[in-house]
Amino acid sequence: MKHIQIINGPNLNLLGKREPTVYGNQTFDAYLMELKAQFPDVEIDYFQSNTEGALIDKIHEVGFSYDGIILNAGAYTHTSIAIADAIRSITVPVLEVHISNVFKRETYRHHSYLSEACKGCIVGFGMDSYRLALDAILHF
Ligand code: DQA
Repeated sequence: MKHIQIINGPNLNLLGKREPTVYGNQTFDAYLMELKAQFPDVEIDYFQSNTEGALIDKIHEVGFSYDGIILNAGAYTHTSIAIADAIRSITVPVLEVHISNVFKRETYRHHSYLSEACKGCIVGFGMDSYRLALDAILHF
């Protein structure tokens, strides 16, 4: 059985309430139940933190034993060399995901420190970005 870790960064605990015109109305917990039902043969763990160091600790914790990490680092995507270094330090492939199409938004969202260190990126498909990332991990 494949073992996948989803990691969400800052403010993503407020999905469902936060800027619904950008991020939709669904909570991540509700989405995760749907995702788990679609992939009964995959063990999916979920972690969210608003703290950069906690995200790095989780990447280190799962980064040598799981089959893949799906990472939405939120705004740390655009600022964090430390998270990029954490991704480079582990052996498990990391897929960067974003719910919104960051390239259609403010220019400060156009650069990601993480993309270079990731296996690939899925951007702009709403919550379905996570499902697409999971599919990708299962097929490479
Ligand atoms: C986001 C995009 C980021 O720019 C933003 O800071 C987020 C969410 C997304 O999923 O679209 O918090 O990562």
